[in-house]
Amino acid sequence: MSTHAARGQAPLGQSAPQPAIQVEGVTVHYGEVLALDSASLSLDHARICGLIGMNGSGKSTLFKAIMGMIRPDAGRVLINGAPPAKARKEGGIGYVPQSEDVDWQFPLSVRDVVMMGRYGHQGFTRRPSKADRAAVDEALDRVELSQFAGRQIGQLSGGQKKRAFVARGIAQGATIMLLDEPFAGVDKRSEATITRLLRELAADGCTILISTHDLHALPQLCDEAVLLMHKVLMHGAPDVVLQPENLAMAFGLDVLNRDGAGERDGAGHRDGAGDRQPAQAIDHERGI
Ligand SMILES: Nc1ncnc2c1ncn2[C@@H]1O[C@H](COP(=O)(O)OP(=O)(O)OP(=O)(O)O)[C@@H](O)[C@H]1O
Ligand SMILES: [Mg+2]
Repeated sequence: MSTHAARGQAPLGQSAPQPAIQVEGVTVHYGEVLALDSASLSLDHARICGLIGMNGSGKSTLFKAIMGMIRPDAGRVLINGAPPAKARKEGGIGYVPQSEDVDWQFPLSVRDVVMMGRYGHQGFTRRPSKADRAAVDEALDRVELSQFAGRQIGQLSGGQKKRAFVARGIAQGATIMLLDEPFAGVDKRSEATITRLLRELAADGCTILISTHDLHALPQLCDEAVLLMHKVLMHGAPDVVLQPENLAMAFGLDVLNRDGAGERDGAGHRDGAGDRQPAQAIDHERGI
């Protein structure tokens, strides 16, 4: 390895590759509620990063900011060095929303949902081409949902719904996948299918950010992990992030043993948690 590469620098005469996802000091309020407080995060290509934090810590808001679905009050998001709108237009970002954010009654079949991933490839008329149909069939096959293609999306099980949205990302050829709690209410088989698919996608160069409350599954699933409590408290190797003293920063001192719910202030911060910056020091020291 060259000296430049060893230091993470581009060789002389070449510009450094842009991170896949760059979140710089992003602050988001919903009215008076502070959801993200100058959150910063940088993800390299072909990595799987787990996003963990307690309910209300801002995980879904971070996904929406990365997608460009909400405009930050401060800070910015860059996808491959460009604003999210560009990546979205090009179909570069796949998004598996949290179940609560989806209208499951909407009259769309599973195939329709996956075909949405092809919109960026279609012309003004949005008439699917042979290639679009082939991409949808292949994606459905990869997530093992071919037999459910004609079913209304709301009439799938929880795990099947998640797999349908993963298929949408696959069909669109996304190089970045954002998955908001894809394992919530999902059985072991669907979890294993999704985990295998994510590993395959990452091996093909896809960058994956995935929120989960399943801390036990994190080391097998992820290359790195982020602790969120409105701010990014920590970003590092899963086994380091999962150390009890680090989890305590995001979930409360007693999360492992005693009742650690704690009191929160009006902004949703646990006592003092929003003021702590302990992990900023090791943020990006990711020799992993
Ligand atoms: N549409 C909204 N209007 C007002 N407040 C909101 C809205 N969406 C989220 N919030 C608030 O913003 C904060 C962050 O919410 P967010 O949904 O991002 O958290 P989360 O980490 O995804 O939580 P969970 O683990 O429960 O999914 C919370 O205090 C939440 O109540
Ligand atoms: Mg959420």
